[in-house]
Amino acid sequence: MDPSKPAKVVKEAAETVAAKAAELLDPKVPGVPSPVSPSLEEPTGPVPPLPPRGDQGAPDTRTPTGADTHVPATAMAQQGAYLTTSQGARLRDTDHSLKAGVRGPTLLQDHHLREKITHFDHERIPERVVHARGAGAHGVFVGYGSAAGVCKAGFLAEGKETPVFVRFSTVLGSRGSADTVRDTRGFATKFYTDEGTFDLVGNNIPVFFIQDGIKFPDVIHAGKPHPDREIPQAQSAHDTFWDFVSLHTEAQHHTIWNMSDRGIPRSYRMMEGFGVHTFRLVNAEGATSLAKFHWKPTLGVHSLTWEEAQLLAGLDPDFHRRDLYDAIESGAYPEWELGLQVFPDDPEQTFDGIDLLDPTKIVPEELAPVQTVGRLRLDANPTNFFAEVEQVAFHLGHLPPGIDVTDDPLLQARLFSYLDTQITRLGGPNFSQIPVNRPHAPVNDMLRDGFHQDAVHGGAAPYRPNSLDAGNPFPAGADDGAFVDTPVTVTQSTKVRGNPVSFEDHFSQARLFWHSMTPVEKEHIVRAYTFELGKCYEQTIKERQLQSLANIDPVLCQEVATGLGLPAPEPSVPLTDVVPSPALSQLGGTWPQDGRLVGIVVDPDSDLDGLSTVRQAVFTAGMVPLVVAPRGGMLPNGVPVQRTFLTGRSVELDAVLLAGCPAPAPDALPARDAKAGNGSGELLDPRVRLLVEEAFRHAKVIGAWGAGVDALTAAGRAPGEAGVVIGDSGPEVLSTALELLSRHRAWERFPAGVA
Ligand code: HEM
Repeated sequence: MDPSKPAKVVKEAAETVAAKAAELLDPKVPGVPSPVSPSLEEPTGPVPPLPPRGDQGAPDTRTPTGADTHVPATAMAQQGAYLTTSQGARLRDTDHSLKAGVRGPTLLQDHHLREKITHFDHERIPERVVHARGAGAHGVFVGYGSAAGVCKAGFLAEGKETPVFVRFSTVLGSRGSADTVRDTRGFATKFYTDEGTFDLVGNNIPVFFIQDGIKFPDVIHAGKPHPDREIPQAQSAHDTFWDFVSLHTEAQHHTIWNMSDRGIPRSYRMMEGFGVHTFRLVNAEGATSLAKFHWKPTLGVHSLTWEEAQLLAGLDPDFHRRDLYDAIESGAYPEWELGLQVFPDDPEQTFDGIDLLDPTKIVPEELAPVQTVGRLRLDANPTNFFAEVEQVAFHLGHLPPGIDVTDDPLLQARLFSYLDTQITRLGGPNFSQIPVNRPHAPVNDMLRDGFHQDAVHGGAAPYRPNSLDAGNPFPAGADDGAFVDTPVTVTQSTKVRGNPVSFEDHFSQARLFWHSMTPVEKEHIVRAYTFELGKCYEQTIKERQLQSLANIDPVLCQEVATGLGLPAPEPSVPLTDVVPSPALSQLGGTWPQDGRLVGIVVDPDSDLDGLSTVRQAVFTAGMVPLVVAPRGGMLPNGVPVQRTFLTGRSVELDAVLLAGCPAPAPDALPARDAKAGNGSGELLDPRVRLLVEEAFRHAKVIGAWGAGVDALTAAGRAPGEAGVVIGDSGPEVLSTALELLSRHRAWERFPAGVA
């Protein structure tokens, strides 16, 4: 605090800050960047540190060796009102370098200049070689106790609360790529358990492209942009990807998931997660089982349409991270249940004929139901993206007692890869001491020194056995909570580079997936293949992929071949009979609408009486209303406008409510806003017409009352169409719209040509 400032002035400033903070911590407008609203004039004097944002969390304040410091997380942030050097010396000026006269040369003596520029020059670290683009959040996991029969891990005990950090990601794109590309999504969870950190490093797709980790560089090189021109970014719609998957047909199962709606999730909050591999569980008696991990989202599994995904990639490349952060800020905390499919640990390691060590295979839930064992809730956004989301480091080898690995050859290679890459990415071997990576269990290792060593290790003898440190630290026995590698018998065998015969079936489960889809989902799959292969230049690659499609299903093949203008080949393998798995379809059922975005289109010059009521009702229903008006600022009734016709677009909304029929605004000119087209001079602003047209095309719920019904009609829609609701008042329309929204979309509106 500035000692020269009279205490009263400082106190008044603090009160102003607190009042503004209270106003803005109101979660009604998520995304406001600062906890206090800024003054118009440049601030001229220091104020006490601003309060932390209500939606943010931070890594627990642990020492580098895992001890609890009991210091609030906020104490880790920058403190105080005065700018200092990295050594804490207060600075007088950071805008002018030290020069020999105002026009003179800059002096080498200027340490502040050199420190500031040098640090800036080194701000970037290598992005992840895969999964570079991501977003993360803090949360808590609560065990149900239902896993006790199969797993002794303490974090699964009934009522046990364990802090977690989750990072969601896309696989192929660079760190700055768009969120809504067609790709697999990462779903990596760090459980800070009392028995050591457990990382469940999964994806939103339950199978993988390859069966053996030695091929990981190949599949990733094929999926990343072409090495010569470095295009296309963050997508699989290009020749090298389809070249690889059509030659390595074990990738066909994962690929059909990517071409389905699973490849373009509506939200990270609406994705399933899968551990993919089979793990080995150990219970308190030492009995083992095999198991697969599942995350089941409370909100259901929902997707974008391909057109929405493409428009969003331009309109809001941060759509998924914004959705995650805004939902958490507005109190719609995303939740998942952790589930297990459990199988007997028999020597064959198969279940119902399915090889459990083959990561390109699922076990349908109808054969082995998913049993829920706990609940995850994400309730805090990161305080600093780089410190937390960018520096978090997951590893499959981070396992608590009770969970062990299997011989899945993909898993085995992963056990090597992550630590190896993180040494480069995070600049040395001590990254487990970065706050977000610090375990919450005491660390007592004999790993020493290296770059960025944060711990001050005591003791004279970092080796075993020793007598100088009285023999400490000692290996623990199983009764002392040690992780004991499960003594699995390895049958006598010959060293080979090869696969078991069971790994040779590349098509039956892709076929199972196809036949488990509803007609509209099949239609989307056909369109996705046709789009992606249509972007390839080489006809031979398209023909080769069509052969794989024929081996999955002749109808699928024929539909895609027609779109590509190529003949459909005959299957080259016998087509197996499959029993569809309804659990694989995303359709059917109703789901909570928490955190959904509801656009309310208003005409500020008309009656706004009902608007506040509807807006409040949307909040009360746990969703986020976005008021869309011709111009920004506040409406006459004091309601803030969040989107204008210029900045808003239907694709970011889950439902559209028309509360007025705004005439073309002054900027409804193609020269000012290309979305205006040539539609000026109409009853309705052409951007609103476009909004309604797009919302209808994407099968979104559309509601209207009062003058909004005129807008609906002017946009060419009529009550009685699927998912279109009109009524006498906003609340009446909203209640019907909510019911429809619980199905995610008005599915009837999508044409489905494939039965
Ligand atoms: C079932 C198969 C796989 C799944 C589910 C999976 C999942 C993931 C996820 C979720 C991430 C992002 C972690 C984060 O958010 O920081 C990731 C990163 C990574 N994965 Fe995988 N992966 C799989 C296979 C593989 C294989 C076979 C390898 C190599 C042999 C591999 C190497 C990597 C590497 C090097 C990273 C970057 C790690 C970092 O820089 O921190 N992955 N993977």
